[in-house]
Amino acid sequence: MRPFIVAIDGPAGAGKSTVSKLLARRLGFALVDTGAIYRCVALMARREGIASDDDAKLGELLSRIHIHFQVVGEDNHVFLDGQDVSSEIRTPEISMGASQVSSRPVVRSGLLALQRRLAMEAEKGAILEGRDIGTVVFPDADAKFFLEASPEVRARRRFEELFQKGVESSLEQVLSDQTQRDRDDSARAVAPLKAAEDAVRLDSSSLPLSEVVHEMENEIQRRL
Ligand code: C5P
Repeated sequence: MRPFIVAIDGPAGAGKSTVSKLLARRLGFALVDTGAIYRCVALMARREGIASDDDAKLGELLSRIHIHFQVVGEDNHVFLDGQDVSSEIRTPEISMGASQVSSRPVVRSGLLALQRRLAMEAEKGAILEGRDIGTVVFPDADAKFFLEASPEVRARRRFEELFQKGVESSLEQVLSDQTQRDRDDSARAVAPLKAAEDAVRLDSSSLPLSEVVHEMENEIQRRL
């Protein structure tokens, strides 16, 4: 029997990472942070001096990429070629790079099998968080959610997250980067950010994240 698949999509800063982590822990499910995968591609491209529109080189890079997730303490860490890059992929520069490489069809299609494999390796269930999980990666997911929040709330959350991680930035910068990323993610031709028709939509501007987790868990338990 295949693992129970939960798709959580939405824009940057809507609270996907926090709720996914809490849900995964409560349900004993694996967690696949697909944004971290795109960030690893951007990091590798940057290290190797590959331009974000060089499809031939990006395609070749994808044939060599090795990514796995592992829970370290309370957090889900991402390893690129065995190296823990969890902090390195969170800089504003890599955020932009990830958004750029993610608009390349060669990158999106090249990462499909990896995302599906990481989820299917889970024993009981897997939570995938991203932008196109319910629409493209797992259109037949067992439960789908689309998490939103106002741009101001999202930017503040992201700013505080960066601050806690010791990454220097300003609220204005985070908001302006976020606006650009939202625009790029929603406007791209392949797998743009949009809610699946059968996704449960939740807005975390008015709902505390603990309540969002509660609603999602109830919905999942009903379908388990
Ligand atoms: O979620 P996170 O902010 O880490 O994602 C980084 C970037 O990766 C996003 O801005 C988006 O461009 C891209 N992404 C994507 N599809 C996904 C997950 C992330 O295009 N499923």
